[in-house]
Amino acid sequence: MADTERTLIIVKPDGVQRGLVGEILGRLERRGLKLVALQFKQVERQLAEEHYAEHQGKPFYDGLVSYIMSGPVVVGVFEGVAAVATVRSSVGATNPAKAAPGTIRGDLGIEIGRNLIHASDEQPGSAKREVALWFGQGGQLDWSRDSDRWIRE
Ligand code: RTP
Ligand code: MG
Repeated sequence: MADTERTLIIVKPDGVQRGLVGEILGRLERRGLKLVALQFKQVERQLAEEHYAEHQGKPFYDGLVSYIMSGPVVVGVFEGVAAVATVRSSVGATNPAKAAPGTIRGDLGIEIGRNLIHASDEQPGSAKREVALWFGQGGQLDWSRDSDRWIRE
């Protein structure tokens, strides 16, 4: 069986402004992923730039940093078996116009620059780095969920 992992998600400012926080988190919860950290916050420039460092120099970088700082976000950590890939599959392709129906971006979005949610990618180390960047060492909760025995074999 694949390992249990933790992965970072951010409901971006468009998701918050459109009242889709519950919808987006609910889809991931209903999939069986376990929430281990959650915060509502306004992102500072330094954090935004560090989070998106891999995109520095790309044509969309400045707009991307402004976008993530343009209003409050909800940032969380989900845990589960193969959580990184599982969350990415629920989130859908980067461009909502091309994302499959049934995914968050495919059902709720229409443009790449307003794609509602960030999720850690599958490059080794990405999720761990992002969870540490946003929550540090102490910001997550270890808890046992009663429903786990109905979700995990
Ligand atoms: P994310 O990091 O937000 O989960 O999205 P992703 O992995 O699917 O896409 P990534 O390549 O990491 O791009 C990060 C975010 O930058 C914006 N973007 N705009 N205009 C463009 O061509 C373009 N390309 C990327 C999107 O907001 C994307 O989520
Ligand atoms: Mg990405």
